[in-house]
Amino acid sequence: MASLWGGRFTKDTDQMVYDFNASINFDKKLYKQDIQGSIAHVTMLAKQGILTVEDKEAIIKGLEGILADVERGALEIDPKYEDIHSFVEANLIERIGEAGKRLHTGRSRNDQVALDMRLYTREQVKNTDALLKELLEAILTTMEENVETYMPGFTHLQKAQPTTLAHHYGAYFEMFKRDRSRLKDIYNRMNYCPLGAGAMAGTTYPLDREYTAELLGFAGPTLNSMDSVSDRDYLIEFLSALSMIMMHLSRFSEEIIIWNTNEYQFVEIDDAYSTGSSIMPQKKNPDIAELVRGKTGRVYGALMSLLTTMKGLPLAYNKDMQEDKEVAFDAMETAQNCLMLFTGMIKTMKFRKDKMAKSALGGFTNATDAADYLVLKGVPFRDAHGIIGQLVLYCIDKNCAIDDLSLDELKSICDKFEEDIYDAISLQTCVEKRLTLGAPGMEVMNKVIKASKEYLAED
Ligand code: ARG
Repeated sequence: MASLWGGRFTKDTDQMVYDFNASINFDKKLYKQDIQGSIAHVTMLAKQGILTVEDKEAIIKGLEGILADVERGALEIDPKYEDIHSFVEANLIERIGEAGKRLHTGRSRNDQVALDMRLYTREQVKNTDALLKELLEAILTTMEENVETYMPGFTHLQKAQPTTLAHHYGAYFEMFKRDRSRLKDIYNRMNYCPLGAGAMAGTTYPLDREYTAELLGFAGPTLNSMDSVSDRDYLIEFLSALSMIMMHLSRFSEEIIIWNTNEYQFVEIDDAYSTGSSIMPQKKNPDIAELVRGKTGRVYGALMSLLTTMKGLPLAYNKDMQEDKEVAFDAMETAQNCLMLFTGMIKTMKFRKDKMAKSALGGFTNATDAADYLVLKGVPFRDAHGIIGQLVLYCIDKNCAIDDLSLDELKSICDKFEEDIYDAISLQTCVEKRLTLGAPGMEVMNKVIKASKEYLAED
């Protein structure tokens, strides 16, 4: 196979070396970006008088033909080429002849691949953001419908205080909202065009880098040609943001798995999003949630892989950098699939509100409120804490809840208890009295929901 660099060589590359070196099997994903970059490049070359208008037009027509043919399946990306750049260039020359050989003027594969990958990643950042937005919309819908769905809140996976499903989901709303803001930062930071950096030291042709940057929708050109061809920070940042998204999805998945157990039965996952067992007929497993949790490791792996690849690389381009692609592509696809499936799963999931409320009644989730009641009756908090502790012990012994005790029993432990204690520690009071900003009380929860709606409407 004729390579792009035959001139200096007297011998063909060993086949195993060729295969080891080649990247076409994975960088073929970049065909669109490669063509898009080349079109911008020749448009600029012609504007600068480096290429004739006829050559430019022939090249663009040829490139558009390649793009159309690949997209409609008429042209297969042939694995005999070393990489996508060689494939496109060879195909162009085959189509339009001489003019095709002028495409690579003032360019290196180093700035070419840097551009292609940046264009591709930029699009993936946008796609991921759109999926996050859909997830947030699903979360917010559940929040709106469940401001009065009481459930236990946990610390140490032990029942702590009563809360609502809206409040619990609201926590995830904040996490995924931060994920979106991270993506926005990454997008803005990466949105500079490396094209024109050449192999590493720019070029002697009078390129207009501002112009190509503008043609490709970048905020401007990058400012150091060595950095331009060897910067993969933006990719590492994106993998880090994807890892964070996966971590959030994984925590959420873990909760759904717990809520779906026979012991909890807080949720019922839709049949379309669960699977059965080949031997146990009664089984309905939360496989999607488990897989999302499982795939998190894979995305973290991509981040670690690229961080490690980059850590010892001297300036500027090194072939090690070709290793960015497979892991990054896999992580981008994995995270997006997980977002899509997870959103579908929670949109169709049913809540057993009766079980949730019943669970919130157990486990002394109103113990804090009982202590606060005594504080209102003049008992110092530290003493109140001790008294309610004693009360809990008494209830454990009797196998009942605080609310089940008679006023006489309560008074025997502390004479400050009055008839109004029952109302003060009811599930509803425990939730609705919590009105600090960010708490589950309906009044304040509705304010947060309103703000969240406005946020989604804005961007
Ligand atoms: N396949 C290479 C990569 O992904 C393209 C750049 C090749 N440049 C070079 N000087 N060999 O990094």
